[in-house]
Amino acid sequence: MNHPTTNPRDAAHDADAQDAAKRAPWTPDSWKAKLASQQVLYTDREAVERAVEKLRGFPPLVTSGEITRLQTLIAEAQEGKRFVLQGGDCAESLSDCTSDCITNKLKILLQMSLVLVHAMKKPVIRIGRFAGQYAKPRSSMTETRDGVTLPSYFGDLVNGADFEPGSREPNPHLMVRAYQHAAVTLNFIRSLIDGGFADLHHPEYWDLRFMEHASLPPELRAEYQRMASQLAEALRFMEALGETAVHEMNRVEFFTSHEALNLLYESAQTRTVPRREGHYNLTTHLPWIGERTRSLDGAHIEYARGIRNPLGVKVGPKTTPEDLIALLNTLNPANEPGRIVLIHRMGAANIREGLPRLLDTVKKSNLRVLWITDPMHGNTQSTASGIKTRSFDHILEEINAAFDLHEQAGTILGGVHFELTGEDVTECTGGGSGITEDDLSRNYASPCDPRLNYSQALELAFLIARRTGQ
Ligand code: PEP
Ligand code: CO
Repeated sequence: MNHPTTNPRDAAHDADAQDAAKRAPWTPDSWKAKLASQQVLYTDREAVERAVEKLRGFPPLVTSGEITRLQTLIAEAQEGKRFVLQGGDCAESLSDCTSDCITNKLKILLQMSLVLVHAMKKPVIRIGRFAGQYAKPRSSMTETRDGVTLPSYFGDLVNGADFEPGSREPNPHLMVRAYQHAAVTLNFIRSLIDGGFADLHHPEYWDLRFMEHASLPPELRAEYQRMASQLAEALRFMEALGETAVHEMNRVEFFTSHEALNLLYESAQTRTVPRREGHYNLTTHLPWIGERTRSLDGAHIEYARGIRNPLGVKVGPKTTPEDLIALLNTLNPANEPGRIVLIHRMGAANIREGLPRLLDTVKKSNLRVLWITDPMHGNTQSTASGIKTRSFDHILEEINAAFDLHEQAGTILGGVHFELTGEDVTECTGGGSGITEDDLSRNYASPCDPRLNYSQALELAFLIARRTGQ
């Protein structure tokens, strides 16, 4: 007698059904019954309640319509029709909520995206790590300096970076301040975009002749200028033909993302909206779950499974295929397109070993995901003097390996995720401007992980463009 063969997706579905049955009903607060890793220890519970109530009362930062639109775009990226560029600070700081910092961040993302669009001949989805990237997971809950032990710095949403008892004490009111700074940041981003900042007809915003970043290597500057004038030429040509489509290029879209780490903050703005089903996290378009908080039974996955936003999930070198399938079945039981962005962050030394089995398993199970590479978080090192850094060469090596491995697996690498800044910082070594370990202390500004500076970020965009260009 013939037994019907079990399709892997059916098996996965059975597992879903069993898992779903085990889980209690979801609410924006059901995560509270689970163990939260990286939990902040606030001492003043009443102050926490007050802060959460205040956050609940604030209007949202983003709309469900924008979130749904991003999901549609991600679904198209899953089919290879779009490419994601996600980037920004490791930890946004409240003091960087200035006109220059925000403008420079937007500029570098816009310029990188133009380089990629030009090479790949497909639209790029621009997603900032901004307007909410204020909470940080840490490998140790405390930090000791010269015999003094204080709580680690958990991001400006939780405590201050200064190594002093008052600053390091978690302060619930910082959740409110972070929200307000996210609102101010996003307001400025929206005005810049509405005001024509990203209008391709205004090359002063994206033409490097108007940029003052002296460290950009001359050949990169020349290559970018060549590309920019080709783009301007193409725009003029299309306009001469009377193409209406050109007008649609007046605006580019930016989306926001941050790690959904402090669940008090995230759930306070998680709500239903008129005429749509389900709950949305209205602090950001794309929340992601970090490598340290994606345990299947933990609070973060419990929270994430119930919201309607597309979800990023960081995937590190120790992830097993079984872990990943269970996560995907929990977060996306209906296998909806555009819902899941898997951000692999393996490290140049581990990716060839760790990634292929994950790609094969997800492919065989027909689970719909967008794969993107984060070549930063698996490549962090400390110098002999204890400065955290990353090498440009390792970052590039991981990107190239990611493209190779996806090609071999027959899967699509649909985007990149960077920690970067529009400033001339000296945090990562290497690249055309030749930063060495000795240079790191010159302008090391990140309170957390080392970021690519302006010219390293643009250089990487060119190298990806060369690799993927048609
Ligand atoms: C981050 O993106 O800053 C981060 C902490 O990443 P991961 O969870 O991948 O370590
Ligand atoms: Co980081």
